[in-house]
Amino acid sequence: MNTSTANPINQAETIKQRVSALLARMTLAEKIGQMCQLDASHGYAPDYLADALRAGRIGSVLNITDVNTVNELQRIAVEETRLGIPLLVGRDVIHGFKTILPIPLGQAASWNPDLVREGARLAALEAATTGINWTFAPMIDISRDARWGRIAESFGECVLLTSTLGAAMVEGFQSDDLTAPGAIAACAKHFAGYGAVESGRDYATTNVPETKLRNVYLRPFKAAVDAGVTSLMTSFSDLNGIPATGNEFLLRQVLRDEWEFDGLVVSDWDSIRQLQIHGLTENDKESAFEAATAGVDMEMAGDAYSNHLAELVHESRIDMQVIDTAVANILRAKFRLGLFESPFTNPADLPPIANERSLETAKQAALESVVLLKNEHAVLPLSAEQLNTVAVIGPLSDAPYQQLGTWIFDGDVDLSITPMHAIHSLVGHDVNVRYVRAMENSRSKVNAAFDDAVEIARDSDAAILFLGEESILSGEAHSRADINLPGDQAELVRRIRETGKPVIAVILAGRPLTLTNIVDQVDAIMYAWHPGTMGGPAIAELLFGVESPSGKLPATFPRMVGQIPIYYSQKNSGKPPSKDTVVHIDDIDTRAPQTSLGMTAFHLDTHFTPLFAFGHGLSYAKFDYQNIRVSAHEIGLDDTVTISAELTNVGDVAADEVVQLYVRDVVASITRPVKELKGFRRVRVEPHETVTVDFELHTSDLTFYGRDMQPVTEPGEFHVWIGGSSETELRTEFRIVQGEECDNS
Ligand code: NOJ
Repeated sequence: MNTSTANPINQAETIKQRVSALLARMTLAEKIGQMCQLDASHGYAPDYLADALRAGRIGSVLNITDVNTVNELQRIAVEETRLGIPLLVGRDVIHGFKTILPIPLGQAASWNPDLVREGARLAALEAATTGINWTFAPMIDISRDARWGRIAESFGECVLLTSTLGAAMVEGFQSDDLTAPGAIAACAKHFAGYGAVESGRDYATTNVPETKLRNVYLRPFKAAVDAGVTSLMTSFSDLNGIPATGNEFLLRQVLRDEWEFDGLVVSDWDSIRQLQIHGLTENDKESAFEAATAGVDMEMAGDAYSNHLAELVHESRIDMQVIDTAVANILRAKFRLGLFESPFTNPADLPPIANERSLETAKQAALESVVLLKNEHAVLPLSAEQLNTVAVIGPLSDAPYQQLGTWIFDGDVDLSITPMHAIHSLVGHDVNVRYVRAMENSRSKVNAAFDDAVEIARDSDAAILFLGEESILSGEAHSRADINLPGDQAELVRRIRETGKPVIAVILAGRPLTLTNIVDQVDAIMYAWHPGTMGGPAIAELLFGVESPSGKLPATFPRMVGQIPIYYSQKNSGKPPSKDTVVHIDDIDTRAPQTSLGMTAFHLDTHFTPLFAFGHGLSYAKFDYQNIRVSAHEIGLDDTVTISAELTNVGDVAADEVVQLYVRDVVASITRPVKELKGFRRVRVEPHETVTVDFELHTSDLTFYGRDMQPVTEPGEFHVWIGGSSETELRTEFRIVQGEECDNS
């Protein structure tokens, strides 16, 4: 690399010049060709692609993973087309490529951006061996509805957690140098509001007021843009009456004008033509018009652009400037990736797939993602020395494919190590491990094998039940209206409970499930999500105390589905329930006066709190938080306050704890959430060690979009909490005051 390109400013200038020079040489047909991405999976022979490519009709392909085919297509693109423009080669590399990491929701439970970055790096290195240079990840849709299948692909409900982990994932895929071998372009998706689909039904409508859009749903995308993400993908969903793929407010006003994003915007799969199905347009031509004028640069897997853009330009309905801007965005991405200099892939330039380091990263990610929800009488960790026999039971004990989770096109199931095998390897020489699957799959209602399961449980010192849902029950278009454990799993739990042996439930699932019907039937619950290739060894080590669980929930666990949406950063309402607001519906007198049960925001048939709160997660250590304090009780606008607390490990084992900082802006010009996460840190604490954890908070961290949709930080009182979950009560306060009022003493 010469010195003029090594400097980012020179590099940007050079790219700008190269884009303009190339654009000036392009015909309209060649420009429109760049705006078209073709599905190149089954059904499209390379010859077909080759012909379309030579004719300049393709700017990008997706879903080809054979390196020789990809290299051949790149060769045709650079050697046999008039302008020699290389291809963007896209693929969903969501949570690993061959080596599979926990689902993103599981990775979010690690609250560890370094690990998420490292995981994305590993995925990029593996994917790049096939010539893939663009992944459609991270998905950073805020998800507050566990019914929605795509919550699995998300980082959960919290703005800060999603923003931080989304940015880390972008950095991992793209590395410091997008032109380096093994760096691939990231794509933040789905812009925007997709996670708010009504009733958690995938693709359904979303209605999100602008303040909520700006204060919640858009923030992770701004963080991804700030982290240098190469591209954004539009959402399938309808946002406030205008589907995201034709939404000028999102794609022009917010993204381009306010955020000055100069990357590439791609539609979702055929989502341009779907504008007609939404009822926004009459035909594909009008859909192409709406999407292009709204600011969608590239059409994924549809033909509205290839069939209609030229005509729209000739009719002067679409200005050439619109086309030029879109093509410039696409070319800029190709230059940034260094594709003009090195369009070809030599897998030998990259580390081998599933090497020791990849598997170690996948295992560490699984270890840190598991959340210990309950551990009555410290039944966990199990002791290999003290146990004679352990019963391993359940449909997900030995299900190598299912533990990988949703959307793993290229995942190598042969690499998967299941919990059953891992428990054998870890303690099989000391402990007699007996196994009964008990159910064909999680949805089974055939309980003929329950007796066998009960028998081995009765003959064992403890029963470990691997329950949950298979990977096909979550992900795109796989939403559920009932999020209890499916099939007869609750009955299996009940039967095993009757043996009187300690019962440990390990749950593998793509979403928070409602566990109310089993929570009192088990001694411990480990929530492992879909933990990926190395899920088995990680779970085994956690069960037997080689390492302590340290994951924390990235999403609230409802008691029952009717509580949804339930999330920690809710508003207070004018009639908040109090801790003693508990009503047992069965006990209500039928003639009870209307107001006698209390007039607050609660359901009559369940407690208003969740079953497990956001941020919750137990450890084999015991953590005690004390002495929260602020560096100043009053700060001015544009100042920083330090908030600290002492954290002591009063237990006997060393463990990681994720320390969380929450803030409430008590009075503001628009109502603010009762708590918002404003900082978090994973710290290792030795037994009986005390560490001081401090967080610096600048007043800009307290900014929100107010009534006029402008960012504002308002003076006034702020409550702050530090603790190990969103339920922490360790609180102090500070005030932000106008300049001259400030007394820092
Ligand atoms: C549709 C999904 O919504 C999107 O997330 C994905 O990247 C594309 N299909 C491509 O597979």
